[in-house]
Amino acid sequence: MKIKKIGAAVVVIAMAYWFCACGEAKKPPAEKIYAGIACYNRSDIFVNKLVDCLREGFDGLNSEKCRTAVSVRDAAGSQRTQDDQVKELLDSGCNILCVNLVDRADPSDIIDLARERGVPIIFFNREPVAEDLMQWDRLYYVGADAAQAGAMQGELAADAIQEYRRIDRNKDGKIQYVVLEGEPGHQDTIIRTESAVDALKREGIELEKLGCGIANWSRAQAQNRMLQMLSLHQNKIELVLANNDEMALGALDAYAKLNYTESALPAFFGVDGTDAGLKAVKEGKLFATVYNNKEGQAQAMIKLAKALVTQKRMDMDKIKLEKNKYIYLEYAKVTRGNIWAFLKEEE
Ligand code: BGC
Ligand code: CA
Repeated sequence: MKIKKIGAAVVVIAMAYWFCACGEAKKPPAEKIYAGIACYNRSDIFVNKLVDCLREGFDGLNSEKCRTAVSVRDAAGSQRTQDDQVKELLDSGCNILCVNLVDRADPSDIIDLARERGVPIIFFNREPVAEDLMQWDRLYYVGADAAQAGAMQGELAADAIQEYRRIDRNKDGKIQYVVLEGEPGHQDTIIRTESAVDALKREGIELEKLGCGIANWSRAQAQNRMLQMLSLHQNKIELVLANNDEMALGALDAYAKLNYTESALPAFFGVDGTDAGLKAVKEGKLFATVYNNKEGQAQAMIKLAKALVTQKRMDMDKIKLEKNKYIYLEYAKVTRGNIWAFLKEEE
């Protein structure tokens, strides 16, 4: 009796399927994009905003034709945690991964996990070395060119020094400077610093380096490093080059803490154009910054993710990849003169 019932049900389902398959009413199945976003540390101001843009972008794709779901995981600075999180994201059915590595030199476990399941990975912001990206043909990177950010920062500083002679406070014809650096080993740390200094020299600025502090992208750490450098050099520092806005603001905090008068302040330069960074440029506290195009990076990742999941040749052909793997978004110089173009309307 039971077997008969099951048999009848199978026939009904088969007929329904056949009917749909032949009838005009059959719709193509909705595309499903389930993105897993793994982030190195959400307490990082820039990355946090970038991940917000990414999530909003994926949500914005959601339509009847294309269903999207997004899960975000924060590794809080631990690669082991991130490896586990990626496994969990894959187990829950993600069909595309966006990974902001904790340790950019250690992506192998994540690559193996994704490859076993055939899920492509778009790395972002923390660039794996080229050999790792070669491990599989479904690995990509979206970011920005660190050398460009450094060169722009150096050019902005050179312009300021040439225009405002008062920056050379002791009038010795040289600019006494310090550098605040991000994490050692991060592509943006070494290259931004080097190319900023090169650009200044290229523009004919004579430099004297007084010090360098590693502050791991953090405002609080930058304040501490700057306090240490100030105890050594007092009011001799004329220029502060910071690898990001947060650290430039941390340096400013140090001067504020010691009640330096405005005329004794050096010129500060950052990178990113975070909300706080842009505000500081607008108020004249930072001389300038370099905009790190998080909106553009998020959009590029979403387009690429969609093309990879749906595997539509046409969509993939529209995406311009360098060496079949890389997308680098342009940086932009931000000064008080053009800040309006970067501020949100309400500001
Ligand atoms: C940004 C920093 C950020 C870092 C994190 C850099 O590109 O400029 O603000 O902390 O990425 O990886
Ligand atoms: Ca000087």
